[in-house]
Amino acid sequence: MCGIVGCILKDNEKAAPVLLECISKLEYRGYDSVGIATISDELNIKKGKGAIKEVNNELDLSDMPGNYGIAHTRWATHGKPSKENAHPQIDCSGKIAVVHNGIIRNYVTIRNELEKEGHVFKSQTDTEVIPHLIEKFMDKGLDLEKALRETIAILDGTYAIAAISVDEPNKIIATRKDSPLIVGVGDEQYFIASDAPAILDYTRTIFRPDEGDIVVLEPSGVTVKNKDDEIIEKEIFTIDWTPDMAEKGGYEYFMLKEINEQAEYIQNTLTQKENIEKIIEELEDINRICFVACGTSYHASLTGKYLIESLVGIPVDVILASEFKYSLNALNDKTLCIYISQSGETADTLDALKMAKPKSKTLGIVNVVGSAIATEADYVIYTHAGPEIGVAATKTYLCQLTAIYLFAALLSLKLAENNDDIDLTKTTDLLRQLDRVPEFIEEVLGQSDSIMKMAEKYKDKSDFFFIGRGYAYPIALEGALKLKEITYIHGEGYAAGELKHGPLALMDEGVPVVVVMPPGEDYDHTMSNLEEVKARNAEVIAVTTDDAEIKEDKADDIIGINPDVSEIIAPLVYIVPLQMFAYYVAIDKGCDPDKPRNLAKSVTVN
Ligand code: F6R
Repeated sequence: MCGIVGCILKDNEKAAPVLLECISKLEYRGYDSVGIATISDELNIKKGKGAIKEVNNELDLSDMPGNYGIAHTRWATHGKPSKENAHPQIDCSGKIAVVHNGIIRNYVTIRNELEKEGHVFKSQTDTEVIPHLIEKFMDKGLDLEKALRETIAILDGTYAIAAISVDEPNKIIATRKDSPLIVGVGDEQYFIASDAPAILDYTRTIFRPDEGDIVVLEPSGVTVKNKDDEIIEKEIFTIDWTPDMAEKGGYEYFMLKEINEQAEYIQNTLTQKENIEKIIEELEDINRICFVACGTSYHASLTGKYLIESLVGIPVDVILASEFKYSLNALNDKTLCIYISQSGETADTLDALKMAKPKSKTLGIVNVVGSAIATEADYVIYTHAGPEIGVAATKTYLCQLTAIYLFAALLSLKLAENNDDIDLTKTTDLLRQLDRVPEFIEEVLGQSDSIMKMAEKYKDKSDFFFIGRGYAYPIALEGALKLKEITYIHGEGYAAGELKHGPLALMDEGVPVVVVMPPGEDYDHTMSNLEEVKARNAEVIAVTTDDAEIKEDKADDIIGINPDVSEIIAPLVYIVPLQMFAYYVAIDKGCDPDKPRNLAKSVTVN
């Protein structure tokens, strides 16, 4: 996962400052090195190891001549972070520069062959084979565009690539396969980028090239050719994100801003009601639902299982996208596979969708408009959470959940028309409570001072457990994931009922256990688990209703939530204090919550 951008501006404008600004907006995709290449009369390159700010302080990246160029921010896969391995990568002649997001699986074979032919490599990256292949084909007389086409015919892997060459001035060419790429069409200025936030300041008119399309940016406009070399028209989208949505807006970190925006964005997702009703109308005859997702989106899917099985009675499976291929034989045309992904680009989820499409109905629940999963699925529900820049998913998670709640409720209403066994009491209750979720979240956000104090108290612990039953179980899993990814503290989420089957052995003096216990049918049962861990001298943080009768002998700390939040709606509210807890622990430990080590926002490799 890396970020790439390219831009071509009017003759008298300088591309480097624009490229620097654009690539800085993609730093969430990778942050171990950065580089920019422009062409004036010659190829100019500045690149280095480190965060964009550090490299810019040292090299002044915006001070480069030329009205067009390409830039890259890296998340290392092949070759450690270093100046040599930073992109742009160049050919032997120093005339061709390439930026790349993805992985070239057969690069070793290609590199060996090119080396035999006399090409000299300077990095350990898989990417470097690309400028050398382009060079080889241009040396044979092909133009840049044809040379790129020949090059991608040899590559095995995933890629979004942009290339420039001194021999073909005023031109950027780009292509993609299984890695995201958008093209931005501005006023006499044209862009390519891995993601929309990069170019929002310049244009919101975009399109997404399909696999194998070759995009040519020139000062006169953009041309796209398909795999068969025919010029094609692309469907243009207008992004409804504004530039300030991708700014910190006075918050120290994006993650805190995004946690605080959740109440507002849930309302955006709720506007999807009509679209969801339409989709449900077309979904005749389904008798099984499979959620397929990774990470946080997988936790949203688990909540979907509890909800749909309880409201509708259709069997639901939740499958990790990376394990999905083993379930392919059990799909048929009565199965609805729902792919949850904030980025819409996660390679594992996208692959699972492509495998299942010929056999089952497919629905994407996605945040990024026009992304690969949105385009590939038969139906799509957009979560409209706005751009999420913090690597740890927060507001996109709550918006995914909101979409799932709406889907489950509307599906039960539809199916109840012809099925008297479906009892709509829970659905009616749920829909009533959904409207109050933003208010409940605002109340939780108001508790930041006490959560901050709690974070200070627990920040030096090395292992946490998070437990819950039923709807609280996915909350426990997600709370543990948030903690581990941004604080590097080990956190484990467990179904509370599973404690006695193993993890109880780990309960000991001072081990922190977060017990998620909303009011409802599981409350008493979870209370007995709380007592079990307390009896082993664990330190208990109870997340429960603020009128709960838990005394100090049972819980060391209590996060109180409005008692009107029942267990069915709890996933939308109870996760918020756990996001805040993880955030403040990260701050106390001096970790950057927006850019957790080794992780990136959009996982386009598998
Ligand atoms: C955790 C997180 C990841 C993602 C996972 C799937 O905070 O963000 O676990 O949830 O990589 O990503 P999407 O939703 O883009 O498919």
